[in-house]
Parts: sequence; structure tokens; C-alpha cells
Amino acid sequence: MTRPPIRSVLFVCLGNICRSPLAEGVFLHLARERGLDGELVIDSAGTGSWHVGEPADRRSRAEARRHGIELESRARQVTTADARDFDLVLAMDRSNLRDLERLFGPEPTTDLRLFRSWDPEAPGDADVPDPYYGGPDGFEEVHRMITRTCEALLDEVEARLAEAGR
Ligand code: 4NP
Repeated sequence: MTRPPIRSVLFVCLGNICRSPLAEGVFLHLARERGLDGELVIDSAGTGSWHVGEPADRRSRAEARRHGIELESRARQVTTADARDFDLVLAMDRSNLRDLERLFGPEPTTDLRLFRSWDPEAPGDADVPDPYYGGPDGFEEVHRMITRTCEALLDEVEARLAEAGR
């Protein structure tokens, strides 16, 4: 059976200032390297509203910059319209996933999943740990898991676009 193409991806965490903006930036960077960015809509959002309008946490921006990536997103809160607007909605941890399941209801029109279900080095239900209250090591570790997971996710995005004849 042909799988439907993935043309839009939304990354979601709690505050939309640490994990999901980093995932958005890394995914966009890797998509550009593969020449796929023109075919994809990529965004991030938070389940909470505390940081709406703020740039990404300076520690996430510093970690991204070490890898040649500028994070330009401003935090926004996820809405029910996101279930309609994105083919794939990726929760950074299981708590985010539960909140999204509640928000989108029992039959979401999007494909809602845990981000690290694509992580080749982790079991299917692994979380991206929240680095907000920790030190810089946490951001480095989060960047590593995000990068390898985004590569695997892009492999699938690329395969499904090819299956669909792009
Ligand atoms: P994020 O991290 O969900 O990865 O953006 C957090 C940012 C802020 C807070 C919690 C987590 N906070 O409680 O303000």
C-alpha cells in the first residue's frame, strides 16, 4: 500500500522555546541539505502559552549556532487548526502527546506521533528530555538525539514523496 506523502511537519513541546524550535531548525537545515525544503512546510509550537512571542531559549540558539543553524522561530501555542494544517504532528515527549490527544480529540485528521519513534537508537516510546532546568550538557544531548531522529524522519519523508511521485 502506498503511504500518503508528508508535506508538512509540526514539532510540539511544552514551551516552544527549547526542544521544538531546535527540532524545527535542525529539520529545516537537513531538509535544505537534501533539497527538500521547497516541498515542505515546517513549524513548531508549544502546548503551553507562557512564552508566546519569545525567541527560542538562548541555550537552544547557542547549541544550534555551534552547528551552523540560526533559530528564527517565535513561540506560539498549538491550536486545533494545526491538526488540519499539518500532515504530521510530532510530540517531543509523552506528556506533550497526551495534551495533544486531548486537544485534537479522538479522531485527529493529522498523523500524531512521538518524535523519537523515529530515533534509531531508542525504543519507540522514548521522550526528548526537557533541558530547561538543566545545564548546557542537556542541550548538547538533546541536539544529538534530535539530529539523528530528524535524519531518519527525512529518510521516510523522502521515500514517501518518491512513492507519491512527489
Ligand atoms: P520546552 O522547554 O518545552 O522544550 O520549550 C520548556 C520551556 C519552558 C518551560 C518548560 C519547558 N517553562 O516551564 O517555562
